[in-house]
Amino acid sequence: MAKLLYITANPKPEDQSFSLSVGRAFLNAYKQQNPQDEIVELDLYQTDIPYIDTDVFNGWGKLQQGHAFDQLSADEKAKVSRINQLTDQFIEADKYVFVTPMWNFSFPPKMKAYIDTICIAGKTFKYTENGSVGLLTGKKALHIQARGGIYSEAPMNEMEFGDRYLKAVLGFIGITDVQSIIVEGMAQFPNEAEGIKEKAIKQAQEVAKNF
Ligand SMILES: Cc1cc2nc3c(=O)[nH]c(=O)nc-3n(C[C@H](O)[C@H](O)[C@H](O)COP(=O)(O)O)c2cc1C
Repeated sequence: MAKLLYITANPKPEDQSFSLSVGRAFLNAYKQQNPQDEIVELDLYQTDIPYIDTDVFNGWGKLQQGHAFDQLSADEKAKVSRINQLTDQFIEADKYVFVTPMWNFSFPPKMKAYIDTICIAGKTFKYTENGSVGLLTGKKALHIQARGGIYSEAPMNEMEFGDRYLKAVLGFIGITDVQSIIVEGMAQFPNEAEGIKEKAIKQAQEVAKNF
């Protein structure tokens, strides 16, 4: 039995979002295919994702200096433990689905805050004399992203920093089997929006068969 973590970074209702609609189609098809698997849904807009701020640095600093967890302030404790929970939840999963909208050439800031909780030295990667090494091997991921314009071809592909960045980050922590389903061009070609969505839903259902 595998554990799939379904991570969404979109404040919109599902029926008003291209990415979330395609994501749900993927998840429904995946569940049908893998009824025994455990699926955990993590909506980044409905849960606490702490920023790495002064409290977090102070908390981490105290722990590094050998202080007991009890010696952290209430805010330091709360933020450090929530980050630990998110890191551990990520490590425990076997498969990941990230669902994001393109916002200003990448993805919403909650997604970046979440990435900051899963790139943790000593837990998801480590430094060696020969450079860093990802520790999360044998896992796979899918990124579903919706975009108003078209960025999968030149010249706009150079402006795409969401899918490429996510793949770079996942590779850094050891996850190299990463596919993408891109739903794009709905704002550029509004008359084709429904067709673009339907095509992506079919693609998602296909990908789900072998994910
Ligand atoms: C804050 C914001 C920034 C956006 N930036 C871009 C962008 O840089 N490029 C683009 O093609 N579309 C951009 N869009 C349009 C969205 O990518 C598009 O509406 C997409 O369908 C959003 O995904 P969703 O339908 O799942 O919410 C932006 C939308 C918002 C709300």
